[in-house]
Amino acid sequence: MIEHAYIHIPFCLRKCNYCAFVSGFNIENKTKYLKSLLFEIRKKYKGEKLKTLYIGGGTPSLLEAYEIKKIIECFNFQENCEITLEVNPETVKNEKFKLIKKTGINRISLGVQTFNNNILKIIGRNHSEKDILNAVDIIKNCGFNNISIDLIYGLPTQTLEIFTTDINKALNLDIQHVSTYGLKIEENSYFGKNPPENLPNDEMQAEMFNYLCNKLKENSFLHYEISNFAKAGFESKHNCSYWLNKNYYGFGLNASGYENKTRYRNFASFEQYINNPLEKEEETTLSLQEILEEEIFLGLRLNQGINVAKINQKFNIDFEKKYYSTIKKYTDLGLLEINNNCCRLTEKGFLLSNEIMCEFID
Ligand SMILES: C[S@@+](CC[C@H](N)C(=O)[O-])C[C@H]1O[C@@H](n2cnc3c(N)ncnc32)[C@H](O)[C@@H]1O
Ligand code: SF4
Repeated sequence: MIEHAYIHIPFCLRKCNYCAFVSGFNIENKTKYLKSLLFEIRKKYKGEKLKTLYIGGGTPSLLEAYEIKKIIECFNFQENCEITLEVNPETVKNEKFKLIKKTGINRISLGVQTFNNNILKIIGRNHSEKDILNAVDIIKNCGFNNISIDLIYGLPTQTLEIFTTDINKALNLDIQHVSTYGLKIEENSYFGKNPPENLPNDEMQAEMFNYLCNKLKENSFLHYEISNFAKAGFESKHNCSYWLNKNYYGFGLNASGYENKTRYRNFASFEQYINNPLEKEEETTLSLQEILEEEIFLGLRLNQGINVAKINQKFNIDFEKKYYSTIKKYTDLGLLEINNNCCRLTEKGFLLSNEIMCEFID
């Protein structure tokens, strides 16, 4: 039974310098895109009542409210379902968001990145701090009470002082959720081809991460996943479904899905997707060992960690015995802990998560 769905809307007003997502397509192509997208949904979706729907991108808030409504109307939902729309501050207008509120969208994820106007320019964002504040006001006034923002740390010219200002400004917004990512220089981005100068070093990035964790905790945010913080009850149900390795549909250009032990990805080429929205570019059925490794990898991202008893039962293993040397190495270093049947990274371990997770892979 599938209770989660992701929908990809690949249009953006312009491409940001750090971004390597399959995004940035011209909105002029939306009519033919939506036709293929709706065709794909109607053919593949089996009518289950969804717990979560996530409309991401790209910049899905470039769509008109009636187009968003048309997408949402394809699905059945459980009571208290979470329906998220990714939003870029430049696209937030009062009349439009009043209509978007009526479509059933009940969670907004706003791409802020930083409040610093100089850095916003360097990273190729077309909005200012004022636009962000204005966008949050409009979103709230339109009746949304589950709002998340994305921030990035480790940006060019960003100092600890600038980052602490970002966090304090984020807290002043009085919102429910914050996602914070360390800048990754992606090969297929503008920055990948034109490496930026004045990047904060690793030590500075670690200081930023520590500040972030402490400050958000002081302000009653739960650090429930490596990059995610939420007020109690506002953890992203959709993203938790990924980390708990649940099945989900992926619809749209380059969208990934996980159904029946099979991971798949749609075409990344716009033309190929438009012409064959039902065909997959990649499809892999996972072995039991691969599922176990994914479950460990994803579970360690969560503050609650991995439920050892459940893993033992599901995969018929003795987790602590199978991974004895890795567990010992990192618990001795204070980066991992096991108690009450949960194996989890410590806050210090979160900073080295990739390195630690890789040691659980055969
Ligand atoms: C798919 S984007 C969608 C957000 C929306 N399109 C916007 O930019 O306003 C999701 C988030 O991923 C983060 N992100 C994208 N590329 C990144 C990179 N190279 N390094 C760190 N974070 C990145 C940004 O915080 C971004 O808001
Ligand atoms: S960060 Fe968001 S707005 Fe910028 S190019 Fe990527 S998807 Fe588009």
